[in-house]
This record gives sequence, C-alpha cells and structure tokens, in this order.
Amino acid sequence: MPSTAFAALNGAAPTLSVGVLTADLLNLGAEVRVLEDAGARVVHFDVMDGCFCPMMTVGPPFLKAVKTPLLKDAHLMIDEPLAKVADYAAAGADIVTVHVEATRHLHRVLQQLGQMANANDPERGIVRGVALNPATPVEAVGPVLADVDLVLLLAVNPGWGGQTFIPATMEKIARAREIIARTGRTILIGVDGGITRRNVAEVARAGADLIVTGSAVFDGRAAAENARAMLQAVETH
Ligand code: DX5
Ligand code: ZN
Repeated sequence: MPSTAFAALNGAAPTLSVGVLTADLLNLGAEVRVLEDAGARVVHFDVMDGCFCPMMTVGPPFLKAVKTPLLKDAHLMIDEPLAKVADYAAAGADIVTVHVEATRHLHRVLQQLGQMANANDPERGIVRGVALNPATPVEAVGPVLADVDLVLLLAVNPGWGGQTFIPATMEKIARAREIIARTGRTILIGVDGGITRRNVAEVARAGADLIVTGSAVFDGRAAAENARAMLQAVETH
C-alpha cells in the first residue's frame, strides 16, 4: 500500500471514482462491496447543502458509516466549506474537494486541509482537491496550485446525477494540463458528471486521472457489470 493517499491515487490513475448516490442506499454496504469486487479503488460522495446547489444529500456521518478499503472521495458542493472541512477529515475522507465558487477564502481552506491528519492513518495525509463549475475558467485555480493535489472539472452543473456531459470540458482538460505542467508538480485532473460507458475511454485519453461516474454504474440493473466494464475501459484506454 503506498504511503500516502495521494500516492495511492496517483498510482491508480487513471481510474474511476464511483458515486454512490444512485446506489441502493438501504443496502449501501453491499453496494460498496460490489465496487470493491469489481476492482474499484475510489468511492465518491456528493455532498450537497441545498444552497450551493439545489439538492441536499449527505454529510460526515454518512461518510463515516461506510466501512471500506476504498479511498473515500468527498466532493463538497457546499457554501463556505472553511468551517466544515475538518468534519469530513474526521469522518475518514482521503480526498476532500471544495469548489472555487463556494468560498471567499480558497487558499485558507487549502492551507487548513494541508494540516489535517487522515482519520484512518495520520501518516496518509489528505488529497486536496479544487473543483470548477462548467462556467469557471481553469485559470481560476492558477494562484492556488501550490496547495492543490487534484483539479476536478465539473462536466455538468452540480445538482443531480444523470445529466449530459458538456463537450467544452474536453478543452478544459487540455488547458488544465498546460497550467499544471508549468508548476513542475504532479497535480491530478479529475472530471465529474455525465460519464458513461460511451465516453469514459475518450475522457481518459484526454488526460483525466480520476473519472467520476455515478448513474452509469448504479443504474438499478447491473452495477457490477457496469463498474467492471468502465474500469476496464479507463485502464486500457
Ligand atoms: C454532480 C455530481 C456528480 C454527479 C455524477 O452534481 O458532482 O458526481 O452526480 O453523476 P453522473 O455520473 O450520473 O453524472
Ligand atoms: Zn461529484
């Protein structure tokens, strides 16, 4: 097992982060086991507060309740996350991603995250992610890249699963690569929303390291088969 959460994620890239909101939540343990058996490495939690985006979903107790060796990826679609990121770290998140549009003090949030211990193993650290809505230029993350491990590009507007991938995201992946290359650091690129069996390999080829998918895996029919097929598509792109 690599020594840090970042090394584990980087070593697995490109890979999927599978969102569980459309899973059978009353059987969530079994649903997460399906992902583990299919070879997934990362499980994605869409945290929505009903303010930053219309829906309300889950919070730290939900993350904590999921017992799994998978990396826990907390995507915080919440306003002013500064006071709340510590709760997600305490709940066992390995990746904590905040939105550039959601805070006046993005740099301060990232500084705080950088000082937090991983609740499952203090040596593992926490992967610091910054997410960008479809209308936000990649350049918005430039000034804070020294404190970022993952740039997450939203390919849909935050709010619901099952939306259609916005094609302009492909150019944003290329732009993110350019800006990241100038830092000389390893910073991962994530893409979230509208990923299906049809476009997953193309998004991996475009340079995404972490590809978030929800409803294309947990479609209420064949989660194990979907997860296996999409993981294979990403790994062999
Ligand atoms: C957007 C969320 C996504 C999304 C994924 O609000 O951050 O994680 O729900 O779901 P699909 O894969 O169905 O677009
Ligand atoms: Zn998400």
